[in-house]
Amino acid sequence: MAKTPNIRRKKEMKGIILAGGSATRLYPSTLVTSKQLLPVYDRPMIFYPLNTLIRAGIRDILIIVAPEHSGDFMNLLGALFFNRGVKISFQVQQEPRGLPEAFILGENHIDDDNVALILGDNIFQDDFSSVVRDFRSGGQVFATQVNDPERFGVVKFDRQGKANRIVEKPDSFVSDYAVTGLYLYDSRVVDVAKRLKPSRRGELEIVDLHNWYLRRGELKVKTFKGAWLDAGTHDALLEAGNIVRQNKINENFDPIIVEALAEYCEAHKRRMKRRLG
Ligand code: TTP
Repeated sequence: MAKTPNIRRKKEMKGIILAGGSATRLYPSTLVTSKQLLPVYDRPMIFYPLNTLIRAGIRDILIIVAPEHSGDFMNLLGALFFNRGVKISFQVQQEPRGLPEAFILGENHIDDDNVALILGDNIFQDDFSSVVRDFRSGGQVFATQVNDPERFGVVKFDRQGKANRIVEKPDSFVSDYAVTGLYLYDSRVVDVAKRLKPSRRGELEIVDLHNWYLRRGELKVKTFKGAWLDAGTHDALLEAGNIVRQNKINENFDPIIVEALAEYCEAHKRRMKRRLG
């Protein structure tokens, strides 16, 4: 009998948006709503990380949300891409236990594919589609120069430009290249995340995942120059809105999102009109 050919499916890149958290730095704005649903200029924040993934060609996306806001996320995004080739699913994170928990909660979603995790409050101007397309295995993070490196995980490069250390919130200067909130990993990340122990602040730390891959020589760091905004404080949120408008980031969305949003807004207007009689 002929042997069944060993057909190995090319690994897909799954997406995860981490949109839970407690957003205490944005109190009182986030007392009854999610940070990722607050507007950044002309649309809810979640659309920016969603756009980064969709523009990069990712079509199967898990959104991780806090329990108290899950209904709002489903109302906004549950049916938005119906018949548009983008699958959105949701997973509740009961409490914020740290960024690596995304991979544990996302285990079934990732399956044995690769995964791109993006933080729900991170806004990127750049298009990462070529890096996502070329990713095969290991880990890939993205770094950019910042004025306040002590607030971030930073990357130290050797003379050849290869990353050799990542240090979380360094007390003294190590480098001014911050690791931003978009991470590509192969599916080993699930088991590595499961084995992590919480840090002194009681959370699983993403830097421990980066260092697991770095120690094995399997972490790539790509630098980029376009705007990167993390809208986690009142000032950062205001600045994010201004930069989005100035750099026209809101005008450069993937057509899948532009069309889906236009249709949703029109349908909503029609419903409102009918309701008002
Ligand atoms: P942070 O800004 O570090 O945390 P936070 O949003 O809870 O805010 P604050 O520090 O003001 O209390 O989180 C970065 C992003 O990751 C943000 O979009 C929320 C998300 N997140 C989760 O979804 N789950 C988590 O366990 C953590 C730590 C963050």
